[in-house]
Amino acid sequence: MTTETGSLAGLEAEALAALEAAADDAALDRWRAEWLGRQDGRVTVLLRGIREVAPDERAAYGAAVNALKQALEARLEARRQALKRAELERLAREGAIDVTLPGRPQPLGRLHPITRTLRDCLDAFRAMGFRVAEGPEVEWDRYNFDAARIPEDHPARDMWDTIWVNTLIDGKRRMLLRTHTTPNQIRVMERTPQPPVRVVVPGKCYRQEATDATHEWMLTQIEGLAVDEGVRMSDLKGVLYEWARAMFGTDRRIIFHHSYFPFVEPGVEMAIDCFICRGDGRQCHTCHGTGWIEILGAGMVHPEIIDNAGYDASRVTGFAFGIGVERVAMLRWGIEDIRHFYSNDLRFLGQF
Ligand code: FA5
Repeated sequence: MTTETGSLAGLEAEALAALEAAADDAALDRWRAEWLGRQDGRVTVLLRGIREVAPDERAAYGAAVNALKQALEARLEARRQALKRAELERLAREGAIDVTLPGRPQPLGRLHPITRTLRDCLDAFRAMGFRVAEGPEVEWDRYNFDAARIPEDHPARDMWDTIWVNTLIDGKRRMLLRTHTTPNQIRVMERTPQPPVRVVVPGKCYRQEATDATHEWMLTQIEGLAVDEGVRMSDLKGVLYEWARAMFGTDRRIIFHHSYFPFVEPGVEMAIDCFICRGDGRQCHTCHGTGWIEILGAGMVHPEIIDNAGYDASRVTGFAFGIGVERVAMLRWGIEDIRHFYSNDLRFLGQF
């Protein structure tokens, strides 16, 4: 008995040493199978061998083997818990949040340079007493062309210049993506029974255009319209000079050229000195060597349009203008190619 109990003590020491060496769940399972496994666990085999022990030693031996079995089971459970605790502590240590660290910077959105320029232009006109209105981007040909005195055979109405909506009404395409904001001159006068009118209308326009440094197929315009008794060309120039000062400061040169638009008489174009070549005549891709970048068309509203609006053209006159906002942004920030604005390159957009 003494020898057997002694060998049990040796066995326990061996089992506990192996248990200490088991470092994860899989190792614990292997240890359990080796020592306490139902079939041939080493302690199970001892239990099964009790009947071969001499009868007077059997009870004491059986009690000792059972005690060993229970002791090992308890130590196994304790070891499992200890490993679990250690793992949780490791996770807490390694995954811990350091609340003193600065937060991760979130990329902030900002306004597109064309939106900024558009808003600044509108602010300048608001300060001069213009109110802001809006009109549809998908427009009837009647407003975009007929009412603006652009006849059926005018090249601008060609399907190569205008993006038409592919729906036939009375056998003809009647709807289009507006090519300019000018239809809003008519729309605003239609809903204003009598002058005075003083309004600016911003919006996107679309043209079937071969793009280059100053031409895009989608562009932003601001239409301006002022109608009242005694409105003169000098008022138009005064308003545009004041707006240009607000946008570009006082050190830029401005020029008016004569131009033709069917809906004004007389008509002009306003241009600003090229920020790249400053008009020194060298090869310049942005102004094509002219030294000037055209930013708007303007003129005195044609009397026929005033009459068609139900106003008395013998009494009231008006001026109108259509500004190209992308060109303004180019001049403002010295951007040599209009296509940068809509190429969605964050290296470009992030600078504004
Ligand atoms: C017009 O669109 C006239 N409706 C402007 C107008 C309004 C004249 C009221 C008289 C009275 P135009 O096609 O020239 O005109 O365009 C006006 C401005 O829009 C141009 O000066 C230019 O700054 C800009 N623009 C025209 N086409 C493009 C384009 N493809 N890409 C970028 N900007 C353009």
